[in-house]
Amino acid sequence: MAKSAFLKSSIAKKYWMALTGLFLCLFLVGHLLGNLQLLAGRSTEAALQFNKYALFMTSNPAVKVLSYLTYLSILFHAIDGILLTIQNKKARPVAYAKKDDAASSNFSSRNMAVLGTLILVFLATHMVNFWAKMHFDKKMPLQMISAENMGQKVNFIVSTNNGLAGNDAFLGKFIPESAIDGKYYFIEGNVVYLQREFKDVNDGNKLKKEKIKIAEGYKDLHKITVDFFKSKGKLFSVIPNEGLVFTIFYVFAMLVLGFHLWHGFQSAFQSLGVNNKFTPAIKLFGKAFSVLVPLLFAVIPVYIHFILK
Ligand code: HEM
Repeated sequence: MAKSAFLKSSIAKKYWMALTGLFLCLFLVGHLLGNLQLLAGRSTEAALQFNKYALFMTSNPAVKVLSYLTYLSILFHAIDGILLTIQNKKARPVAYAKKDDAASSNFSSRNMAVLGTLILVFLATHMVNFWAKMHFDKKMPLQMISAENMGQKVNFIVSTNNGLAGNDAFLGKFIPESAIDGKYYFIEGNVVYLQREFKDVNDGNKLKKEKIKIAEGYKDLHKITVDFFKSKGKLFSVIPNEGLVFTIFYVFAMLVLGFHLWHGFQSAFQSLGVNNKFTPAIKLFGKAFSVLVPLLFAVIPVYIHFILK
């Protein structure tokens, strides 16, 4: 490739990396604000608020468009980053000649590809543990609410229709957990069905089965998240205290994210050609962002594992 063509394609790649990277920073802020609700504890109300938020985030059409943009940005950012790294490795002298700013000599800028790859590994495990459960797990639990019934504590499925509307909430669509036997009453997605058998008089009294939708509940993403960081299980059936391992892994991943953002944030503006009186302020904001956002993310698993009762 001619030198100018090489530079052109390299610049285009950097441009797209910058745009997708900044979009992902916006995603991070939104995701962080949503997840900070987890610091509200594990009361029924706190769980309900988080689960309502999760339902909104997975069903609102506008949010869905933003989600797809996020997935595309992650893919594009990662692939572009890998291609750019390969390209730079192949043409070392050119790549070095371009790196003349002071920041490029720091740890973050020298290790952007490694840091990015670690974030990708984190994301893959993160999506399997939360996102895939929310979207595809047929055994995802629905949120329950406890109530006294004739002196006994009974769990009822929280209906998406009535919410926590006092005692009325137990009327109509609320059904006790004990009724969910997997045979006559069962759950698919977030819907509770009743499997009914009846004789069809119009069809020679043939025995027929009918699936009746009797309630919809909130998928209990709050419980999934809390159970994940509090898990007492053994990782790979070997390493004890799984929850602690996950917590350490998340804190480490947030450290990696912080280093990636430390260089990435300001570098994005450089790639977009922003170089004016705001540049020092952008650099400062980028540094604050790269410390604060990962730090607040890291607080969540630490709080759940060590503090939440
Ligand atoms: C302690 C930190 C975090 C917690 C507790 C957390 C929790 C969650 C949960 C519960 C979901 C599933 C929600 C859903 O699918 O609607 C989710 C999805 C996701 N998370 Fe996180 N997350 C954390 C940090 C991060 C970080 C740092 C990143 C990026 C580097 C990230 C990227 C994502 C992505 C891309 C999705 C899919 C979002 C979508 O479907 O729109 N998460 N996270």
